[in-house]
Amino acid sequence: MKHMPVMQDEILKYFEPCDNGLIIDGTLGLGGHSEALLASYTRMNILGLDLDENALIFSGNRLNKYGDRIKILKDNFSNILPIMDSIERSELASGLLLDLGVSSYQLDTPERGFSFRFDAPLDMRFNSNQEIKASDVINEYSERELADLIYKYGEERKSRKIAKAIIDRRPIFTTMELADLIKNIIGAKNYKIHPATKTFQALRIEVNKELNNLYSALSDSLKIIKNKGRIIVISYHSLEDRIVKSFFKNESKKCICPVEVLICECHHSPMLKVITKRVHKPSFSEINANPRSRSAKMRVAELISGTGY
Ligand SMILES: C[S@@+](CC[C@H](N)C(=O)[O-])C[C@H]1O[C@@H](n2cnc3c(N)ncnc32)[C@H](O)[C@@H]1O
Repeated sequence: MKHMPVMQDEILKYFEPCDNGLIIDGTLGLGGHSEALLASYTRMNILGLDLDENALIFSGNRLNKYGDRIKILKDNFSNILPIMDSIERSELASGLLLDLGVSSYQLDTPERGFSFRFDAPLDMRFNSNQEIKASDVINEYSERELADLIYKYGEERKSRKIAKAIIDRRPIFTTMELADLIKNIIGAKNYKIHPATKTFQALRIEVNKELNNLYSALSDSLKIIKNKGRIIVISYHSLEDRIVKSFFKNESKKCICPVEVLICECHHSPMLKVITKRVHKPSFSEINANPRSRSAKMRVAELISGTGY
């Protein structure tokens, strides 16, 4: 299995001040980032989470040489609060890492159904024990629900046309059937990318409730990270990046009253300092070596009043 950890040098740099604490790697995947952290900072411990059992078997074998310094759980990063409650902990975490989305290994495994490069069942679940698959969404949602989700999560302007074509054609069970249907219905002429890309993104987000998970993890991170601890998020599409950007912005402001309120009524206290004033992107050499890193966007914030709960 191969996955090149994205923006690894930047992650090492931004977690350096947390070098003797517990980092929660919420998206352990194949363990590339965690391995780099454990090897570079010998006093750092990691709690690694992922929903993908196969990825966890691989990263477990890869990281077991670090003994007690690494603990691995199959869980959703949206559960960081109960997870931190349930593990015996004498201190808060020093950091949270979220490297969102799909790994190369998931994309390249045909039967996971993430990619229209292979003909495979429409699955797209990070957690293979979860009930709802992409085929359930495609075959059971109403035309309106499909159009809305393709528009909202795929930012696809032709969402209504695509939803109607799906309803007329279904049942649809494979990636190729769906990709070909979309290509035929909206054409490939004006698209730099495959015309099904946005619909596939929307389906994946819906199946895995990706945006809700991100919201929960960010807001709960404020309760489990200590003062001067850091949150690093790498996102791969604008919907995720917008959530991270606005969360960091709001939580670093003294006042979050609506603009029309002239005298502050919210008494909001800032919890974060934004470390990356501008979003960070991979260098040209990283993109050359790993083209899949090209859409990555990294943001980093530091807790300034993380007292836990
Ligand atoms: C881009 S990969 C992470 C790669 C990892 N940083 C590495 O270096 O190998 C994203 C991983 O996050 C996992 N994932 C996505 N959403 C998750 C969630 N809500 N909770 C836990 N894991 C999740 C996916 O299963 C996938 O393995």
